[in-house]
Amino acid sequence: MFIKKRPSWALPHSEVTPESVYLNRRQFMSGTVAVAAGLSMPGLLSAAELPVPGEALDYVAMPGFSTDEKKTPFEDVTRYNNFYEFGTGKGDPARYADEMSVDPWSVVVEGECGRPGEYALEDLLKPHEYQERVYRLRCVEAWSMVIPWIGIPLADIIKRLEPNSRAKYVYFETLYDPDQMRGQRSLFSTIDWPYQEGLRMDEAMNELSFLAVGLYGKTMPNQNGAPIRLVVPWKYGFKSIKSIVKIRFQEERPKTTWEMLAPQEYGFYANVNPDVDHPRWSQKRERRLPSGLLSPNWMETVKFNGYGEQVADLYKGMDLSKFY
Ligand code: MTE
Repeated sequence: MFIKKRPSWALPHSEVTPESVYLNRRQFMSGTVAVAAGLSMPGLLSAAELPVPGEALDYVAMPGFSTDEKKTPFEDVTRYNNFYEFGTGKGDPARYADEMSVDPWSVVVEGECGRPGEYALEDLLKPHEYQERVYRLRCVEAWSMVIPWIGIPLADIIKRLEPNSRAKYVYFETLYDPDQMRGQRSLFSTIDWPYQEGLRMDEAMNELSFLAVGLYGKTMPNQNGAPIRLVVPWKYGFKSIKSIVKIRFQEERPKTTWEMLAPQEYGFYANVNPDVDHPRWSQKRERRLPSGLLSPNWMETVKFNGYGEQVADLYKGMDLSKFY
C-alpha cells in the first residue's frame, strides 16, 4: 500500500478545524450562506444546492430495531459525507456523486456459496420486503448521526446465496470506475481502490446487519452509497461500505481498506468502543450532528454504539484492545 497523504477524515477534529474556519470565512465573504448556517456545517453546499430526494419506497417500520433519538436532518445526512471515491471533503460527495450512474446496477456474488453469479440489483432485492430502521451511525472521526435507513436484513440475502461451511467471512467491494468517480483518478488519492470491507460470518448474520437501499423513505442518494450499501451500526462508520458491486464468501479474513492503509490505527473489527482510543485521539465522546463551532453537541460514546445487548456475545473472550 502506497500512502501518499493522510486522509482528512483520519485526522483528529482539532486538526481539521482550521480548514473549516477558513471555509466558513470564505462563504461568509462571498455572502452565499447565512453566517449561522455556515458555522453549523462548515464547507458544505449552499441552500440552493440542496440534494434532491429520490423515489419513494414502500417499507414497514421496525420500531424494535429503531432508536427514538432525534433524527439527524435529511440535509445533514446528505451533505456531510465520507465517500472518498468523490473527494476527501465532507461536501465533495454531495457535489460530485451524481457523476456516478446507478441504473442499471449489478452485484457479483462469488466464493464459498451455492448461488454464485452476477445478479441484477432488482433480482437480488425482489423477494424481500423493505424495512425502515433508525440507527445511530458513529464515525471513527468522533462525529455521529441518527439515520432512518430503508433496506433488508443482510442475513436474509445471505441465506438465499447459500454459503457453505467454508464461508467464515463475507467480503464486500465498492464500484471501481475512475471515469465516474473523480476521487479514484485523483493523483492525491490515498486509497488502493476499490474500497473493500468485510465481516465475520456471525457478524454478517447478526440481526442488526443491514443492506440499505434508501433513507428518509426514498431511494439512496448517491453520496450515501447508492444504490446499495452496508450498515453495521455497532461498528465505526468506515465498515459500512457504499455502492457495493461484489459480495464474496471466503475462508480467510479479508483485507479491508483502512486496515491496509494504517493497520496500527484501524482494525478489522472496528467496534465502537470508548475504552479503546484511536492512537491519535480519544473515542470517549462524539459530536452528534448537526453540530457547530458554537454548539458542538458533544455526548458520551457508548460501547458497541449502544447495541451491546445484540452484539456483545459475538466478542466474548476477545481482548477488544487487541482486536480493535
Ligand atoms: N464506502 C466507500 N466506498 N468509500 C468511503 O469513502 N466511507 C466510510 C463509509 N463507507 C466510505 C464508505 C466512512 S468513513 C463513513 S463514516 C461512512 O461511509 C459514512 O456514511 P455517510 O456518508 O452515509 O454518513
